Amino acid sequence: MKILVAYYSRTGTTKRLAKALARWLGADCDPITEDGRYRGTVGFGRAYLAGLTQAKCPIQAKLDPTAYDHIIIGGPIWAGHVPSPVRQYLTNPAIASKLVGAFCTGWTIAEGARFFGEIERLVGHNRFRSCSLAQRLCDADLYQYPIAKFSRTLFSNLTKPQKNFVIDNLNYALE
Ligand SMILES: Cc1cc2nc3c(=O)[nH]c(=O)nc-3n(C[C@H](O)[C@H](O)[C@H](O)COP(=O)(O)O)c2cc1C
Repeated sequence: MKILVAYYSRTGTTKRLAKALARWLGADCDPITEDGRYRGTVGFGRAYLAGLTQAKCPIQAKLDPTAYDHIIIGGPIWAGHVPSPVRQYLTNPAIASKLVGAFCTGWTIAEGARFFGEIERLVGHNRFRSCSLAQRLCDADLYQYPIAKFSRTLFSNLTKPQKNFVIDNLNYALE
């Protein structure tokens, strides 16, 4: 069973989670990159607008997702929405149909449900597990337990597939 964890990360938070998740799952890990348009202060503004308008953008990824049985996607929340590189990545129907997990990071976890609802609309199904983590928890290096739990949830799903399961979101924040 070949698993791919693909992620977009503008400032490194989601990247740390993606790498940890890939280690737990024995999966390959692939960064989705763009042309630098979201870098720096001007890039922040562009990213915010891209989130608000639910825009897409040109992207690159190193690994071929069609070579995998299952795909997990991760990204930061942008203006309450899925970031444009992830939005673009999921336009590939071969990826969408293989999606079994999604995770996001944000200032808070308040917008996680909306983020995953959007992913559901983008891929056209809800056969994926989800996990949202607050950035503060990641900054404090407290993400290993949530990520281990998420990987266990995913793994049991892959080995014992259930039909029609609803989104069962794991939310983690520091209070
Ligand atoms: C343009 C932009 C918009 C953001 N909007 C939100 C938001 O609406 N809600 C939220 O909780 N966090 C928001 N954030 C915070 C990021 O989701 C958070 O910092 C995330 O952990 C960054 O991940 P990264 O380092 O992998 O890019 C926003 C960040 C950026 C850059």
